[in-house]
Amino acid sequence: MNPRSVIITYLLFSTNHTESLKSSTHNVHTLRITQNMLQTITPLKNTKHLLVSAYVDQRVKDLDIRIIGIFKRDSIQPLHCVFCCTNVLSKTTPATILQHSDHFGFPFATTDVMCQIPQNCNATRVTLLTTPDKESASDSTWLPIRNQKSDRQKEENMKFDFTVCISNLFGDYNNVLQFHYKLQMVIYNTSCGPELDRLLQNYSQEGFVEMVPWPIDKHLNPSRGWLHSEHGGDVHYFGQLTTLNECIYRSMERSRYVLLNDIDEIIMPYQHDDLMSLMNTLQNQNPNTGIFLIENHTYPKKPFNQSKWGPLPQWNGVPGFDILVHIYREEPNRNIYHPHKLIVQPRAVQQTSVHDVLMMSATKFKVPPDVCRIIHSPIRTPTDPPLDRLHVDTRLWDFKDKLLPNVIKVLQRAELLTSETQN
Ligand SMILES: *[C@@H]1O[C@H](CO)[C@@H](O)[C@H](O)[C@H]1NC(C)=O
Ligand SMILES: *[C@@H]1O[C@H](CO)[C@@H](O)[C@H](O)[C@H]1NC(C)=O
Ligand SMILES: *[C@@H]1O[C@H](CO)[C@@H](O)[C@H](O)[C@H]1NC(C)=O
Ligand SMILES: *[C@@H]1O[C@H](CO)[C@@H](O)[C@H](O)[C@H]1NC(C)=O
Ligand SMILES: *[C@@H]1O[C@H](CO)[C@@H](O)[C@H](O)[C@H]1NC(C)=O
Repeated sequence: MNPRSVIITYLLFSTNHTESLKSSTHNVHTLRITQNMLQTITPLKNTKHLLVSAYVDQRVKDLDIRIIGIFKRDSIQPLHCVFCCTNVLSKTTPATILQHSDHFGFPFATTDVMCQIPQNCNATRVTLLTTPDKESASDSTWLPIRNQKSDRQKEENMKFDFTVCISNLFGDYNNVLQFHYKLQMVIYNTSCGPELDRLLQNYSQEGFVEMVPWPIDKHLNPSRGWLHSEHGGDVHYFGQLTTLNECIYRSMERSRYVLLNDIDEIIMPYQHDDLMSLMNTLQNQNPNTGIFLIENHTYPKKPFNQSKWGPLPQWNGVPGFDILVHIYREEPNRNIYHPHKLIVQPRAVQQTSVHDVLMMSATKFKVPPDVCRIIHSPIRTPTDPPLDRLHVDTRLWDFKDKLLPNVIKVLQRAELLTSETQN
C-alpha cells in the first residue's frame, strides 16, 4: 500500500443524529467498552469446538439462551447446558445444536446452541458439558449471559439508529481515515497497524467504537479467503460468519438497524441526503421488511481521476488511499450471481451469512441501485478495466464539504498531522 496517499471516508450520512449522540453523555457512557471479563473465544472442554458468547433470545421465550460458537462440523456430539443461578449450579438441561448452513466447505462452522433456563434459576452464566453430570462443570469456562431483561430496560432509552459491524480487522490493515463514521461501530479485532490502533484506542475510550478482541488466530488457522477448496484453512475469512452473527445479537437491544458491510465499502444513498432518511422512506414503503439488500458495485483502483481532489499535501505519510478519486464504476454482469450487502433490523434475524440472511422473521427487499448502492473501493483490483467500460459516478463528491474537515479532524485525533502541516 502506498504510504504517501490517504484514504478518506465516511461520516457522510448521519451528521444530525451524530450530534445528538455526541451531546448525550448518557449514551456515550454506556458505550464504553465492557471488555469481556473472559476471553471472547473460549475452547469448550473435551471437544474441538469454540464458544463465543451467550444471549437471551427473548424472541423465542424469555427462558431461552442462544450460545454462539464455532464448531468442528465432523465432531458434533450431544451437549448439556448448565447454568450458574446466583451462586448454585442448576441441573443440566439438554442442548439443541443448530449449525448454520453457510460454511463454504470449511471444517469449522458458526453454530448456535439453544439452552433453556430451568425454573427458579436467576441465571447469570452458562456453560456446556459433554455429559449430563453437572459435577464436570467445576473447571469449565462460564459465559456471561447478555441481553437479560435488566439490560434491556437499561438500553430502552438509548437506542442507536445504526450499528456498523466491522467483522474482521486483521493483518496490517491500516486505513486510518476510513474509520470516521460516527455511528456506533463494533469492530472485531484480530490485529491492526500502529496508526489505526492509536485512532481506535482513542475512539473506544470516547465511546464511539466498541472493540471486541477476536484472537481467532490463537485457536484456529483462519483462512484469508472465503472458499475452503481454494484457500484452505480451518474457518471462513477469519471467522467472519461468526462475528456478523455475534454483532447482530450484541446490537439487538440497542440499535434499530445493523449494517453488515466491509471496511472498504460505503452504503451510499443516491436520492436521500443521509442513511436515516433513506431508511425511513424504504421502511414506509415496505413496512414488513426487516432485511434490505444493497447491490455491490466496484470502483476499481485504476483508472482514477484526481483532477479535483488529489491528496492534500498535509496528508503525506498517512497510510491509506483517497477514495474521492475513485469515480469510475464497473457495470456488474447481471447474468452471473451478483452479491449484496445487508442492512437489517437485528430483531428480524436469527442467523445470517455475508450476502444474505439465512433465518429470519421478516421479508426481504432488494433496494434498487438508483436508490442506494455499495461503493466498493478495494485496495487491490485484479484488472484495470478500460475507461469506456466504466460509468462516471461522482456522488461521493457531494459530501466533500462534510468529508474533508472531518478527515482533518480524524488525522489530528490520530496524531498523524504534525503541528507544522496543520496550518
Ligand atoms: C431471583 O431474583 C429475584 C430478584 O432479584 C428475587 O426476588 C428472587 O427471589 C430470586 N429467585 C431465586 C430463585 O433466587
Ligand atoms: C487490536 O488487537 C491487537 C492484537 O491483540 C492489539 O495489539 C491492539 O491493541 C488492538 N487494538 C485495539 C484498538 O483494540
Ligand atoms: C462486487 O461487484 C463487482 C461487480 O461490480 C464484482 O466484480 C465483485 O466481485 C463484487 N465483490 C464482492 C466482494 O462482492
Ligand atoms: C477527469 O479528469 C479530467 C482532467 O484530467 C477532467 O477533464 C474531467 O472532467 C474529469 N472527469 C470528471 C467526471 O470530473
Ligand atoms: C482523543 O483525541 C482527541 C483529539 O485529539 C483528544 O481531544 C482526546 O482527549 C482523546 N481522547 C482520549 C481518551 O485519549
